[in-house]
Amino acid sequence: MTKRTKEIIILIILVIIFTGILLLLFWEFSPKKEPIENPIEEPVYLEANDKALLEKGYSKEEIESLKKKLNENEQEKLLKLPYINLKEYLEISNFHFAKYEEYEAYKALNQTLSLQDVVTQVNLHLNEPFYQTIEQIKNPEEITVLVNKSHQLDANYIPSDLTPIPSFPNLKLRNVAINDFEELLAAAKLDGVILIPYSTYRSYEYQDGLYQKYLQRDPQDKVDTYSARPGHSEHQTGLAIDIRSDSHWSSLTEKDYEWMKQNSYKYGFIIRYTKDNQPITGYKEEPWHIRYIGKEHAAKVVQLNITYDEYYDLYINKTN
Ligand code: DAL
Ligand code: ZN
Repeated sequence: MTKRTKEIIILIILVIIFTGILLLLFWEFSPKKEPIENPIEEPVYLEANDKALLEKGYSKEEIESLKKKLNENEQEKLLKLPYINLKEYLEISNFHFAKYEEYEAYKALNQTLSLQDVVTQVNLHLNEPFYQTIEQIKNPEEITVLVNKSHQLDANYIPSDLTPIPSFPNLKLRNVAINDFEELLAAAKLDGVILIPYSTYRSYEYQDGLYQKYLQRDPQDKVDTYSARPGHSEHQTGLAIDIRSDSHWSSLTEKDYEWMKQNSYKYGFIIRYTKDNQPITGYKEEPWHIRYIGKEHAAKVVQLNITYDEYYDLYINKTN
């Protein structure tokens, strides 16, 4: 063996020893995961928090769904509390652990409500008087935007694409709703229903003027049942329309309202303030007020027979 060959062999041996030491060190200092003893199923490997939850009495399944639903801070908080049975809550897609105490208090006061309704209604702040908690709207341009007594548009928000309605050029709507609205008018006309829009986009200032005018006539708690406070009107989105029958000055005949109930969703519009919706919306019935949300969502809202507020919290709200 030449001296050169010996040197190469020694070098290879040194590299192997060095790599071995590195691997051993890595193994020793890497975080360990411990198997739970489980004689029937495969062992499940858990992080430190999971182990503590297990010791609190949470089952493996509960821990898996808690991990999906709760952020790390919430998991830490849960660890400081005695075991809470969250199984039913964890089945609910719009459940927020941060609101757990509010849900429980609201549930105790409304024992006939399903847990799903408790969660949705608390998320919509219906466990408080209207206008008590106000969330500023961050997505005013989305056609699914939720505007109600707890969700407010900025005073300076003006939709970027307001467009005159071709057949009623004095009135403006968001461009995205124009074609569907013209189609709705045409389809109604074919069925002998003549509809006339009379109030569409309204600025914050205009709504403020209306609300102030009504306050001179009625006490505020009454005004709040028929007029939105400024920033809280769907009319500011450019997606709401008040329509009337040609024979009526501000509303629809029964026949025309029936036509709207049967057909408006096909063109992307929902009737926003029905009699049944009153406890959720806080407004008296308004057969004349329709809101554009697009055909797909409108069909689902009608099929589910729920308010748009609930639909938004269940299916649109991205923080759920
Ligand atoms: N009348 C409806 C609620 C509004 O003022 O927007
Ligand atoms: Zn209206």
